[in-house]
Amino acid sequence: MNTGGVGARFAFAINPAYCMNLSARTSVSGVVKVHAGSKADSACRATAHGQKPTQMTRNVFITGGTGYLGRHLIPPLLNRGHYVRALVRPGSERKISADCRVALGDALKQESFAHQIKPADAFVQLVGVPHPSPAKAKLFREIDLVSVRASVAAAVDAGIQHFIYVSVAQPAPMMKTYQAVRAEGEALIRGSGLNTTILRPWYVLGPGHRWPYAFIPFYWLCERLPATRVTAKRLGLITLAQMTGALVTAVENPAQGVRIVEVPEIRAAAWN
Ligand SMILES: NC(=O)c1ccc[n+]([C@@H]2O[C@H](COP(=O)([O-])OP(=O)(O)OC[C@H]3O[C@@H](n4cnc5c(N)ncnc54)[C@H](OP(=O)(O)O)[C@@H]3O)[C@@H](O)[C@H]2O)c1
Repeated sequence: MNTGGVGARFAFAINPAYCMNLSARTSVSGVVKVHAGSKADSACRATAHGQKPTQMTRNVFITGGTGYLGRHLIPPLLNRGHYVRALVRPGSERKISADCRVALGDALKQESFAHQIKPADAFVQLVGVPHPSPAKAKLFREIDLVSVRASVAAAVDAGIQHFIYVSVAQPAPMMKTYQAVRAEGEALIRGSGLNTTILRPWYVLGPGHRWPYAFIPFYWLCERLPATRVTAKRLGLITLAQMTGALVTAVENPAQGVRIVEVPEIRAAAWN
C-alpha cells in the first residue's frame, strides 16, 4: 500500500456478522427530501431499515450518488445509521435510493451546492463520465476534473473533516488521459490540506459491469508470473461488494492526512 507518506493504515473495522445482515436493496423508486436537523431527519437516520447505529454516526454528503457505485453505497450507509445527503442534478432525482435525503444542484458548479453541505463531516466524491473510454478524453477534463475541483473547494469551505475520492489504479498502460485527470484530482486534494482517503480501483465488477470477467484467466496467469505480478494485482478486478465495503470502511474510519487505498486493500474490505 502506498500511504502517500502521511497516511495511516486503512483499518478494516467491519464486523462481518453485522455486514452479512445488510440489505442489498437498490430501489430507486422514490425520493425522500428531509431538511437536516428536522424531526423527520432524525427519524430517517435512526430508523432507516430498522437498524440502530452501532458506532459513531457520520454525516455524509455525497456527489455522484445516482451512479453505479453511489446507488450501492447509500443503502448500507443508511442501514448502519449514518446520515446521508446526496447531491442530485435536476432530472436524476428518480435514480437516488429511497430514504436518502437529496440536495438539488450541479456537481460542476460549486455555488449550486456549497451551502447544502453543512453539517456533513464526510464528503464522498463519485462524479465521473459514465463508461470511461479513451474516446472520452475531453469529457474527463470537463466533468471529472471540474467536479473534483468544485467538490474540494466546497469541502474546504464547509469544514469537511474527511474527504473520500474514488480515483483510479495507477500507473497503468492504458486510459492515459483518464489517469492524468485522476492524478490531477489527487494533487488538488493533497494541496487542499483535507484529511482524505483516495481509493484506487481499476474496474468494479457487478450488475451491468461484467464484460471483464473474460479476462480472469489472464489475470490468474499474470498474478503468478514474477514479471507481471505487481501490475496484475494493482490493476486487479474487484467486486461491487468489495468496493462498497471499502467505501463504508473509509467513511467509518476517517483518515488523518492522505490515505491511499489500492486494489489489494479494497479486496480485503468485502462485505461477505
Ligand atoms: N465503476 C468502476 O469500475 C470505476 C473504476 C475506477 C474509478 N471509478 C470512478 O468512480 C466514480 C463513480 O463511478 P461509477 O461507476 O459509479 O460512475 P457512474 O455510474 O457513471 O456515475 C457517475 C455519476 O456522476 C454523475 N455525473 C456524470 N456526469 C455529470 C455531470 N455532467 N454533471 C453532474 N453529475 C454528473 C452522474 O449523475 P447522473 O446520474 O445525474 O447522470 C452519476 O451520479 C467515477 O468518478 C468513476 O470514474 C469507477
